[in-house]
Amino acid sequence: MNTRLLQNTKQDLELAAQLIRNGELVAFPTETVYGLGADARKEDSVRAIFTAKGRPADNPLIVHISDISMLDSIVKEIPPLAMTLAEHFWPGPLTMVLPKQDCIPDVTSGGLATVGVRMPSHPVARELIRISGCPIAAPSANRSGLPSPTTAKHVMDDMNGRISAVLDGGQCEVGVESTVICFDDAETVHILRPGLISLEDVTPYAKYVYVDKAVFQQISADAKVASPGMKYKHYSPKAKILPVDAPDFESFRNYVTQHAEEHTYCLLFDSDPEINGVACLHYGDDGAHQAHDLFYRFRELDELSAEIVYVRMPQQTGADLSVYNRLMRASGFEVIRL
Ligand code: TXA
Ligand code: MG
Repeated sequence: MNTRLLQNTKQDLELAAQLIRNGELVAFPTETVYGLGADARKEDSVRAIFTAKGRPADNPLIVHISDISMLDSIVKEIPPLAMTLAEHFWPGPLTMVLPKQDCIPDVTSGGLATVGVRMPSHPVARELIRISGCPIAAPSANRSGLPSPTTAKHVMDDMNGRISAVLDGGQCEVGVESTVICFDDAETVHILRPGLISLEDVTPYAKYVYVDKAVFQQISADAKVASPGMKYKHYSPKAKILPVDAPDFESFRNYVTQHAEEHTYCLLFDSDPEINGVACLHYGDDGAHQAHDLFYRFRELDELSAEIVYVRMPQQTGADLSVYNRLMRASGFEVIRL
């Protein structure tokens, strides 16, 4: 299959929408990461997404909408708390897990009775959904297990020859995937996957908000989890990622200088100085910038043939928790503590 690279023009968007209506796969930009889209209601098309990614069939897909009026046809019930959050955070990087309607097939929901729904804020994503005239199921457009793509080139690197088209909308602004939440009851928000929208951001609107423990620790493959995606190793470049929990930069530098070999790299904060004799990349000083850069740097490290990467540890509050979580998943929750 020849994968077409489409641009953000009226004509190309129309063509991308036509492909979606025909049941084909089109990767498209969102504000978080690129998604690999198909009509969420078409079983065969959705099955093709799983094949193209090499994704386990029990890991459900997020369904994307362009307008709140599409929600009723996809979910059976919209609790008042979900409506409040939609009003404050949509369009944007928030996915809500709600009871699904029958038009969403089991293959899309990974066999669950619920579906994750999100209204992206990226104008190209919204326009594509609108002209296609259907809800679009889309996981991140990477091969399963690799870092999510934040540019059209990343998508091409993973998917060339496997899907019909990639719609190029430039580099994604957020850089990590959406915050995924479900509702334990009418007053409780349960964060399944942290993103740019943080626990602190949601707190004013809900009586209780908490983060699932799988965000902080490895879950065994046979454990019962609230979100199937938690079980799988994720986001990992070929290089071994080793977060270093150091009290300060000096101790980080001393450790790395003593342990560096050929093909060792460091991923530092922007304000950190270079380390003599060790190749260094930087990934921001705060959660939002680190989120923006993290997966981009992971893919860069692979292109540089890095083998070991020592990484400065992000914080665990606010949007920083999303970066912490992706880093932990990339390292298999292994941390060097100094
Ligand atoms: O930002 C994003 O969310 C991107 C863009 C393309 O929208 N999409 C994305 O999709 O990251 P994906 O498939 O890579 O991750 C979806 C996550 C998985 O961890 C999955 O297990 C969880 O959401 N999920 C989806 N539906 C769910 C459901 N019904 N119940 C629990 N977890 C669900
Ligand atoms: Mg993904």
